[in-house]
Amino acid sequence: MKKIAVLVSGGGSNLQSIIDAVEEGYLNIRIAVVLSNKEEAYGLSRARDHGIPTEIVRHGDFENRESFESKLIDVLDGYGVDLVVLAGFMRVLTPLFVGHYNQRIMNIHPAILPSFPGTHAQKQALDYGVRFSGCTTHFVDEGTDTGPIIIQAVVPVLPEDTEESLGSRILKEEHRIFPESLKLWSEDRLVIEGRKIRILPEKPLEA
Ligand code: GRF
Repeated sequence: MKKIAVLVSGGGSNLQSIIDAVEEGYLNIRIAVVLSNKEEAYGLSRARDHGIPTEIVRHGDFENRESFESKLIDVLDGYGVDLVVLAGFMRVLTPLFVGHYNQRIMNIHPAILPSFPGTHAQKQALDYGVRFSGCTTHFVDEGTDTGPIIIQAVVPVLPEDTEESLGSRILKEEHRIFPESLKLWSEDRLVIEGRKIRILPEKPLEA
């Protein structure tokens, strides 16, 4: 069974959607570890509640991004993970980390990329005045939210929306497309071709 690490910095509702998908048998993978850069991240409690090992690597304890990431790599490699899943992990990752897990890091972003990359994507969408926004799963490359796109989902932006109301409408879709993306990955159905991803059809059940 393939093993993943999930990295969180906050509430971990996306982590929860992945845990639920595993427990319901939708996802045939093992969450080997949940790691956070913040010891107070609620995502860690969610993991503990489900018997998943947790690790804390505080970025503030390191002199620079590279030494922080070297530690992350040591810890994650110790669990032998096949994929690193960024589920609200609020640290920019340098080429050191991205290169080590080349094409093996998946992220979710709360906008329809390439629109509104970076932080506060929901606010960026509201400020711009778009009629639709949504979310994107993608593999991580060296840019900010620029890697090959796996799945996108669209939601309307309503006139009375606040960052919170738009954010929660988007989150609902995140909780659907993240497990779906991981399922495709776990079934080896994602073929990266340059910056595009080809999704292979489901394999027929053997008789
Ligand atoms: C989500 O909106 C995700 O797209 C972004 O950070 C947020 C994390 O939410 N990268 P949660 O911690 O999974 O609830």
